[in-house]
Amino acid sequence: MCGIVGIVSDKPVSTRLMEGLRRLEYRGYDSAGIAVVNGRGIVRRRAPGKVLNLQNLLDGAPIDGNCGIAHTRWATHGRPNEQNAHPHQAGNVAIVHNGIIENFKSLRQEMANKGRVFATETDTEVIAHLIQDNMDEGLSGEDAFLAAVERLEGAYAVAALVGEANQTLYAARHGSPLVVGFGKGEMFVGSDAFALAPFTKRVLYLEEGDSAVVEIDSVRVRDEEGASVNREILTASISTVMAEKGNYRHFMEKEIHEQPEALARTMAAYIDPETDLPALGETAPLLKNADRLIAIACGTAFYAASVGKYWFEALAGVHVETDIASEFRYRTPALPQNGAALFISQSGETADTLAAMRYCNRAKVDTIGVLNTPESSIARETKTNLRTMAGPEIGVASTKAFTAQLAVLAMTAIGTASLRGRLSEAETQEHIRALQALPELVQKALATKAQCQAIAPILAKAKQTIFLGRGGYYPLALEGALKLKEITYLAAEGYAAGELKHGPIALIEEGTPVVVIAPNDPLIEKTVSNVEEVAARGAKVIAITDEAGAESFDTRAEHTIILPNLPGLTGPIVSAIPLQLLAYYTALELGTNLDQPRNLAKSVTVE
Ligand code: F6R
Repeated sequence: MCGIVGIVSDKPVSTRLMEGLRRLEYRGYDSAGIAVVNGRGIVRRRAPGKVLNLQNLLDGAPIDGNCGIAHTRWATHGRPNEQNAHPHQAGNVAIVHNGIIENFKSLRQEMANKGRVFATETDTEVIAHLIQDNMDEGLSGEDAFLAAVERLEGAYAVAALVGEANQTLYAARHGSPLVVGFGKGEMFVGSDAFALAPFTKRVLYLEEGDSAVVEIDSVRVRDEEGASVNREILTASISTVMAEKGNYRHFMEKEIHEQPEALARTMAAYIDPETDLPALGETAPLLKNADRLIAIACGTAFYAASVGKYWFEALAGVHVETDIASEFRYRTPALPQNGAALFISQSGETADTLAAMRYCNRAKVDTIGVLNTPESSIARETKTNLRTMAGPEIGVASTKAFTAQLAVLAMTAIGTASLRGRLSEAETQEHIRALQALPELVQKALATKAQCQAIAPILAKAKQTIFLGRGGYYPLALEGALKLKEITYLAAEGYAAGELKHGPIALIEEGTPVVVIAPNDPLIEKTVSNVEEVAARGAKVIAITDEAGAESFDTRAEHTIILPNLPGLTGPIVSAIPLQLLAYYTALELGTNLDQPRNLAKSVTVE
């Protein structure tokens, strides 16, 4: 959600602010803006839509200075137009913000009562007015900023320019991430280390409630209580090269193709090469002794958790409850006495997942992160972490992060079963060796590309598409439908195959595409019966199965996408590939913006 970048330097900063914004665009692309301090005070440019629109504006009407802030917006309050684009300005203050200020209405009223005039519909503008108002009352820029931030309720990361000639960046975080970067003769602030990667890898993560005063060669950080603190300077692990599109048309396409490598990396981190047994490190004792597990996440990560539930229960005999973070956090859940909670998240910053995790921390439940971003808030606050090694995921639709989450959950379920004596050493090794085949199996699944591309026009023309699966493939049906809707804007629904006749079968009409995910397993014939039911009502069946399952579909499916045979727990992981490819090629057919679909943003840091 919304990207922030700021630079204070001994040279002009505009070009690099724009470079930072381009890297942050995956966080929101409703509008973009930039403000710098120069001899004319604070000057700014803002444009609706993509960063490219702002670049075009700047090309025609350049501004520059040695200290500046910039923003790419995912709109919450106020329409995504130029007027509501950040930075917002009040007098000699300009501000960029990520998050939501929950008490903005009362603050706005208070400022309006003092005669301050508002130019936007946003919750953010009030922060600029509060700071300016504090300065008018005689506070220094720094004190004015700190006093304003103290009054804010909600989730925010803010960066501000304060004063008409002040070469200083002011920053604060509460609920939304913010990093400070260290360069040579210059300093940075950013929503994430990825935005700063072209400039520096030396970063400091502000903690909850921290504020920072960033000057050309120094940073002073205060904690929530206002006490000066030293936060550790780390070397960010993100490679700038990994975040280029290379020869691919889209990040999504690239990330789909990176899966064999991402899975190999992820598994290597959790398999003891000497014994072929799972190595879960400090997470092992938490899982061995838990009487119950809860697995919490949002969106695609929730579907990964849902597949994990099937594996944990079947192999390790542990009861697993799954929950959507936004529901869990507000429903006073009954927590396990002696259990553990898993939080699955690509970004590690999703506001609802973070809040759910904090709820469990407060209740003294052991918290375990399954995370792709090691420096994220969830990674830092969970008791232990299991990292997915997918690398930076830039495409808004999650692909390689999802399969890496599944790989970690599979490994963890096998490891837990082994720790609890439910799998012998030989059985454990057999399961692990099956997972080790994943990179090769996924490579073969990528070869279904041409067939998926050929099927895409059918989905592109359909009023809606139905996805069906049973067991571990049921969450895959939900994921297949989500992938299709989010990048094509077409109607799609996923159902448990056995649930169809309880209502949803009414949706089937002549020609409705039904994508059924059913590689060979003990339930395949049950799913095939459900396929018969929809085919009899005119559905166009597209089966995703494996070599051993292909015969079951025989003439029942109009198209059969055949994956290699899928041993052990590999089935749901490999089946994700054709689902991603179907969505990708359908979106390509329709010409939608694949990497930045409308209304969405990567990393949902508002609730
Ligand atoms: C869909 C998608 C989202 C995310 C969800 C959680 O393709 O990417 O549904 O999975 O917003 O995000 P993380 O994993 O960052 O917590």
